[in-house]
Amino acid sequence: MHFTTALGLAAAFSGVTSALPATQRRDGGSDNNPSGSNSTSNSNSTSNSNGGIDITNNMGHTIYLWSVGNSANNSMVTLDPGDRYSESWQVNTAGGGISVKMATQPNQSDVLQYEYTLEGDTIYWDLSCINMSDNSTFTTAGFDVSSNNTDCPSANCAPGDSSCAAAYLYPTDDQATHGCHASTQMALNLGSSAPSS
Ligand SMILES: *[C@@H]1O[C@H](CO)[C@@H](O)[C@H](O)[C@H]1NC(C)=O
Ligand SMILES: *[C@@H]1O[C@H](CO)[C@@H](O)[C@H](O)[C@H]1NC(C)=O
Ligand SMILES: *[C@@H]1O[C@H](CO)[C@@H](O)[C@H](O)[C@H]1NC(C)=O
Ligand SMILES: *[C@@H]1O[C@H](CO)[C@@H](O)[C@H](O)[C@H]1NC(C)=O
Ligand SMILES: *[C@@H]1O[C@H](CO)[C@@H](O)[C@H](O)[C@H]1NC(C)=O
Ligand SMILES: *[C@@H]1O[C@H](CO)[C@@H](O)[C@H](O)[C@H]1NC(C)=O
Ligand SMILES: *[C@@H]1O[C@H](CO)[C@@H](O)[C@H](O)[C@H]1NC(C)=O
Repeated sequence: MHFTTALGLAAAFSGVTSALPATQRRDGGSDNNPSGSNSTSNSNSTSNSNGGIDITNNMGHTIYLWSVGNSANNSMVTLDPGDRYSESWQVNTAGGGISVKMATQPNQSDVLQYEYTLEGDTIYWDLSCINMSDNSTFTTAGFDVSSNNTDCPSANCAPGDSSCAAAYLYPTDDQATHGCHASTQMALNLGSSAPSS
């Protein structure tokens, strides 16, 4: 089953930022040179692209968010219903990528993650449910990712569709399909198509 496969790979890759093709991973993959940070984007602490991510709370209650690996701002953000959080693409100066963690409680014990890595003109991204419980309110409410770039794939997890959430655990079939131009402005809606609950 797809779910089992994804879980196995996810476990092998550990829970941290994964939004890179396997050959470019630098976030703990044992077969990578840990000092091989020859990427130009890695030496810049701020993004030089125009794109970014908007995260909107369409759910009926408060959401907590952390942009982990973002040295500019990694404090906890509180999103009341209707609030939106935005960030332009950031670079993790420690290598690897950024993980935006979202939770319904003010701690990171049960999180939906939007992970991205900026590599040159490309933004690699994925949604990860690896640290989210099966009965998460995010699954109940549904969530989706869209963008202003028709060449960039979208994701849509309907309310209650836990298998959809699992499918986006890691889009391992071809992670390159989640590589978009860095000028892409993406939108993650939490509870997009669900009535408030
Ligand atoms: C996230 O999931 C990974 C893989 O199951 C696990 O190793 C890691 O400890 C989890 N992190 C948290 C904060 O629970
Ligand atoms: C970085 O690139 C330069 C020039 O291509 C090369 O000489 C150097 O060995 C590279 N460093 C690493 C750590 O790969
Ligand atoms: C950071 O990015 C800017 C804009 O692309 C570039 O001009 C500059 O050389 C970069 N700095 C480093 C240290 O790579
Ligand atoms: C971090 O983000 C929060 C929420 O958007 C904001 O209140 C705070 O001022 C930011 N801190 C910095 C250093 O940018
Ligand atoms: C997270 O916060 C909730 C609500 O305050 C609490 O019940 C739960 O024990 C906390 N979990 C951890 C790991 O701190
Ligand atoms: C949700 O699942 C977790 C384990 O993944 C469990 O500890 C918790 O009690 C469940 N909550 C509800 C409301 O079913
Ligand atoms: C998407 O939005 C970003 C940020 O506003 C902008 O720089 C970019 O040109 C837009 N892309 C398209 C295809 O409209």
